[in-house]
Amino acid sequence: MEKILILDFGGQYNQLIARRVREHHVYAEIKAYNRITPDEIRNERYRGIIFTGGPNSVYDPASPHYDPAVLALNIPILGICYGCQLIAFMAGGAVSSAESASEYGKTVLTVMDHMLFDGIPKESICWMSHTDYVSKVPSGFKTIAVTSHCPCAAMGDEKRKLYGVQFHPEVTHTEYGKRILENFLFSICGCTGDWKMEDYAGRMIARYREELSGKTVLLALSGGVDSAVAGLLLHRAIGENLICVFVDHGLLRKNEGDYVEQTLRKKLGVNMIRVNAGERFIQKLSGVTDPEGKRRVIGEEFIRVFEEEAGRIGHVHALAQGTIYPDVIESGSGNSAVIKSHHNVGGLPDVVSFDAIVEPLRDLFKDEVRSLGKSLGLPEELVWRQPFPGPGLAVRVIGEVTEEKLRILREADAVFSEEVIAGSMPGCRPDQYFAVLTDTRSVGVMGDARTYGYTVALRAVSTDDFMTAEWTRLPFEILEKAGNRITNEIPGVSRVVYDITSKPPGTVEWE
Ligand code: XMP
Repeated sequence: MEKILILDFGGQYNQLIARRVREHHVYAEIKAYNRITPDEIRNERYRGIIFTGGPNSVYDPASPHYDPAVLALNIPILGICYGCQLIAFMAGGAVSSAESASEYGKTVLTVMDHMLFDGIPKESICWMSHTDYVSKVPSGFKTIAVTSHCPCAAMGDEKRKLYGVQFHPEVTHTEYGKRILENFLFSICGCTGDWKMEDYAGRMIARYREELSGKTVLLALSGGVDSAVAGLLLHRAIGENLICVFVDHGLLRKNEGDYVEQTLRKKLGVNMIRVNAGERFIQKLSGVTDPEGKRRVIGEEFIRVFEEEAGRIGHVHALAQGTIYPDVIESGSGNSAVIKSHHNVGGLPDVVSFDAIVEPLRDLFKDEVRSLGKSLGLPEELVWRQPFPGPGLAVRVIGEVTEEKLRILREADAVFSEEVIAGSMPGCRPDQYFAVLTDTRSVGVMGDARTYGYTVALRAVSTDDFMTAEWTRLPFEILEKAGNRITNEIPGVSRVVYDITSKPPGTVEWE
């Protein structure tokens, strides 16, 4: 299989680069720069390497550098932003820092005649975000694009197949970014685009059939698309040896537990054990207010419940989980800052009494999981379910989680969901919408009486990949109906607000 290495120097958009590459049906994997050597790169037979951006300046002693031997591997390299400056630095060029050269946002790019820019007009818009720039291209390189501020917006060394772009081709604001990556992958690296979901499913099924033959595997089924797809894949591989366990932690949305149980039993045909563990989780969460603390408690309790189930079943070899690639990277396995620990990765306790953890979707992005689900025959209603965090409503109740707060939040969330569905067409809905119960109380008036109730925040976001997200401009009518209904129908709520924060700088969830 052809694959591209994304060498991570700490940029925030590294996953986006991987996704963009995979959109061209070329497999890409992200590795932190300090976790792979040039020798290992050669042995892995990568078709090409992309150096990511990063927040540093190459002359800063603390900045991430890389062994220049990589430049002589005869593998094409494309450096993006910091990655471009690093190639210039490693190959003997010069990088300077000047406020006058700094560019942030959309910028006009002028390109020269070059195969990296095949099919791209001489002038187009690119996305810039830098102060440092390549002030002297290394010997063997030529400048192949400029902007009005940046004397080297792109450079290339034909002979060694080394390239750098100062702008970000991976973001959609760069008009021809997709085409530039396509040129790099196909014309320069010689890829053919052999990465297909059907093949991936086949490979994984064959792999697990062999690795898990005769072994019992427990799958943590949450009802979300990830665990359902993981379940389907493993079911194909090991059939009856897969036992799905659905832990109802009491932090699910209104009627969700029953819906999940019915749909998955009926539609997926898998054996499913439902464990109603709500009381246990609430007890453990008592007095816990710190968001990471809640995630840890829930992650740990989840594993304990599983261990107990496994004990009852006997001879369980492995625990399977629907962990996907963004969970792995956002939890700090890559080189970017830890944003929050997703409970199925960062919150795992140190000692887990299974021989192995099986995570068949660990390499996949959300949209890839969905297309894998479709290729495996997962019903559309499950494929397109909006994501729901593993720690459930616990991260949507700000502060301590109590039964009363959960009851209020469940009702508010159900009302908001109903109004979004009633007021919009199926293809035009936000990608995720939900209510949050804040810990702010405010004064209100109802009839002639003063009230002092909770403030509910409504959140709706539009996104491709949940790595970045725009707050959704919902029609006022939907917000008005939802707001009225929530304050009128749900005792204990005196105010409703709408969250207008995009990601970044906010995250989708409040905690
Ligand atoms: P954030 O809040 O990180 O959310 O911007 C991005 C997406 O991930 C979901 N999310 C989680 N999913 N376990 C999960 O399985 C978690 O701990 C978790 N936290 C957030 C969130 O709903 C959004 O879709």
